[in-house]
Amino acid sequence: MRQFTHIFLLGLGLISWGWPAQAQEASIEEKVQALLSEMTVKEKAGQMAQFSIDVISKGVPYNLAEPHALVDKKLQKVIGELGTGSLLNVGGHAYSREHWYEIHQAIDAVVQKTRLKIPVLYGIDAIHGANYTLDATLLPQQLALAATWDPEMARLAGKITAYETRASGIPWNFSPVLDVMRQPLWSRVFETFGEDVYLAKQMGVAMVQGYEGDDISDPYRVASCMKHFLGYSMPFAGKDRSPAHMGMIELREYFLPTFQAAVDAGAKTIMINSAEIDGIPVHANPDILTGVLREELGFKGVAVSDWEDIILLVSRHRVAENHKEAIKMAVNAGVDMSMVPLDLRFVQFLTELIEEGEIPMSRIDEAVGRILTLKMELGLFENIVYDFEEYPEFASESHAQAAYEAALASMTLLKNEKNTLPLAKSSKVLLTGPGAHSLVSLNGPWSRTWQGTDPSYDTEGKLTTYQAIQQKIGAENVSYVEGAKWNEAVDIKAAVKAARKVDYVIVCLAEMPATEKPGDIPDLNWPAAQQELLEAMIATKKPVILVLNEARPRIIHPYIPQVKGILQAYQPGHEGGRAIASVLFGDYNPEGKLPYTYHSSANSLIPYDRKTTSDIYIDFSYNGFRPSYPFGFGLSYTTFAYSNLKLDKEELWGNEPMTITVDVKNTGKRAGKEVVQLYVRDHVASVTPSDRRLRGFDKISLEPGEKKTVSFTLYPEELAFIGRDETWTTESGTFTVFIGDKKASFEYKK
Ligand code: BGC
Repeated sequence: MRQFTHIFLLGLGLISWGWPAQAQEASIEEKVQALLSEMTVKEKAGQMAQFSIDVISKGVPYNLAEPHALVDKKLQKVIGELGTGSLLNVGGHAYSREHWYEIHQAIDAVVQKTRLKIPVLYGIDAIHGANYTLDATLLPQQLALAATWDPEMARLAGKITAYETRASGIPWNFSPVLDVMRQPLWSRVFETFGEDVYLAKQMGVAMVQGYEGDDISDPYRVASCMKHFLGYSMPFAGKDRSPAHMGMIELREYFLPTFQAAVDAGAKTIMINSAEIDGIPVHANPDILTGVLREELGFKGVAVSDWEDIILLVSRHRVAENHKEAIKMAVNAGVDMSMVPLDLRFVQFLTELIEEGEIPMSRIDEAVGRILTLKMELGLFENIVYDFEEYPEFASESHAQAAYEAALASMTLLKNEKNTLPLAKSSKVLLTGPGAHSLVSLNGPWSRTWQGTDPSYDTEGKLTTYQAIQQKIGAENVSYVEGAKWNEAVDIKAAVKAARKVDYVIVCLAEMPATEKPGDIPDLNWPAAQQELLEAMIATKKPVILVLNEARPRIIHPYIPQVKGILQAYQPGHEGGRAIASVLFGDYNPEGKLPYTYHSSANSLIPYDRKTTSDIYIDFSYNGFRPSYPFGFGLSYTTFAYSNLKLDKEELWGNEPMTITVDVKNTGKRAGKEVVQLYVRDHVASVTPSDRRLRGFDKISLEPGEKKTVSFTLYPEELAFIGRDETWTTESGTFTVFIGDKKASFEYKK
């Protein structure tokens, strides 16, 4: 426990002994102001710096000594002398909780010797569970969570992640990604909640709430970090961190609402987009970082740069002559904390800039004030690290069960010719492909290592798809031949031979785990080796079931007619193998729905909420939108029928809401879950309207033969779009509601 703030504030007369308990305690704002008034320029500059653990560790950055160890002299320099406000990351791979504990203790020991004893805020990417802690639960990636269409799943995933992250002594999580996926080539599609604004908003808000709860000083919660503000997910060329070219209407219509919703839900921090929009790097754009983020969205928390992005204003973006000028640009634009993360001169340069009057003290106090507020809200001044023994649920059976349930709910059945699936448990099957016997393919990137490709960090006891199927139907019924690695054919001939002896071939295509720059690809088609394997399996004439472990929708169109079943399994995490086995062999009825459009060709990447001009075909018919599978698609082992779509009024006036009801019946023989999706089309608008937009959804369970009435309330504001004046606007006119195969129209009168 720390006595610092109390004694310090007592000295400043902000609290006095003898008052009733509540009256004694100064507000966080008062404490922050008191602390700011005590700080030197250099101490303030230090708070705005975030360095990587590399700079306090044995070895050289990106190549630390093993086993990982901190170096006293470096700690002294970085924390003691520079007064660093924040640290982040791991040196190459996950650590045990014991080691995390040692790290935090060592950092804090140095903090305690500094003049003001301001705690260091540690941040980490715990993006699908506490992935940088050994043995921690690995949940499905965000994209798979989006396929559940169940915000409660996202909330629970956030809560479990928060718990296990705090169990590693870390109170700040760089998650969720709120970038809406509009460019399917992008290497970070799997980190998003998919292509639709409404779905991403619901999932994003729930995840933020799961991380933060009601009070981030709770030792089971963390501060979240919305990222990457703004427009990061739309690189024109599909390459990570490359330019986006879009106007303010598109930026506000598609990319801003998820952030607005999360800000309104209380999200504490935000990370900036590493790239540029219309030639202006976002890290140097005050219109976005101050105008939009602060003045419009009303965000009050900490804005942190992304990795090295201030320095990159010099070397990559070439808008600044040198590091010092870049710092001035970014801080004046609105960056509060720089993820430097290696060049220690940041503190000196920032100190000089303040002393030279190049950055006003008001701007510095604002930034440092936000950082100190966050630290106080997290309770770091009282307790920097809780004993890891106080987290009995870390990597528990109940967390694994939740990960399993989330993985099950994400499984999206795309094809099931003549009800080939589920397969009988007496079937003999061959498993082949790089995803078949690979935990790393199930987990994807950010799994024990940044890129997640190293199987030496596999957690013992977790099952690959092959092992899970063995367990489900008996090892004697399952054979396995690798066939191909991610990018290389291995033993396709052996796979062909093995296929002759089985009833079904399950081909598990898998994308090599990769994120950020290493995940850039030139084309959405599968690597040649994997296509070769799939073609060879199809040529055996055995029924082929295709299972996909992928980070983005890699093209499968030519193979669809040639396989009997297709299961989109995404990167479902540690329990994903079990979930795949349960769906394929009928212990679970799939309920996942695509959170994106599954495109049919690599160069025809049109989202579902397209404009009419994207629908025009070469014969001039309005029939040009031809994805393999549309957004929101997913089959079940039962069938659902929609009827009786009713709007409670034919005309909607002013601000009154409309009630929309529809009956959904389970017309098959199994219990199942259906995601009832409400889309609305605006027929005529002053900014070209989309074909349709998702405006509501509800997931329901139905027993065989059961019918339920599902009700939605539609408010006129949900008919709004970003108008020519770049603000939300509604216009009178005709609208059509689509639910399932039913539709009905109404007039809106403003
Ligand atoms: C990524 C961020 C991440 C940060 C810290 C960056 O390279 O773009 O998403 O939070 O590194 O690891």
